[in-house]
Amino acid sequence: MPYSPLNSLEQVAALLSEHGVRLYGGEAISQLEHALQAALAAEQDGASDALITAAFLHDLGHLVCEQGDDDVANGINDHHEAVATQVLRSLFADDVLQPIALHVAAKRYLCSIEPGYHASLSDASRASLALQGGAMDAAACARFARHPHVADALRLRRYDDQAKTPGLVTPPLAHYLAIAARATQAAQA
Ligand SMILES: [Fe+2]
Repeated sequence: MPYSPLNSLEQVAALLSEHGVRLYGGEAISQLEHALQAALAAEQDGASDALITAAFLHDLGHLVCEQGDDDVANGINDHHEAVATQVLRSLFADDVLQPIALHVAAKRYLCSIEPGYHASLSDASRASLALQGGAMDAAACARFARHPHVADALRLRRYDDQAKTPGLVTPPLAHYLAIAARATQAAQA
């Protein structure tokens, strides 16, 4: 389904402000808290502006889809990684877009190649995995490992997985919007 592109960071901010209070499907935190925690994890890891921005906006597709918090319980895969990539395309370059596009595939990859990864996932993330195709087979893993943005996709996946702590104090939305603005300017330069 085609979604209207977001043409400014103001539109991104409005989406996060207005819809970010929704619970992050099956977790005890909101979408906005999850976004800020993922961005903070990237920042603390010394990631680039582009990768911090990717972490910040990786689940924006959930907000665009405007489906309920219980998609997984209802057996729905909203393909949010593709939706986010689609709506952010006019604002950012591949260094932001590709890690977002690959963050679900990265989970499927890690479930296949890393012992203990599947067991480390939250219940909600394990539930969505089944809808997203489950662990990759060997051929899919080999293809994924050759992707030029695989390293940043895997880093983003780690930030995503750890960004589920109820009550964690983070910088405010404006802090990560400023970093996203730098990433946008770099993409337009
Ligand atoms: Fe996420």
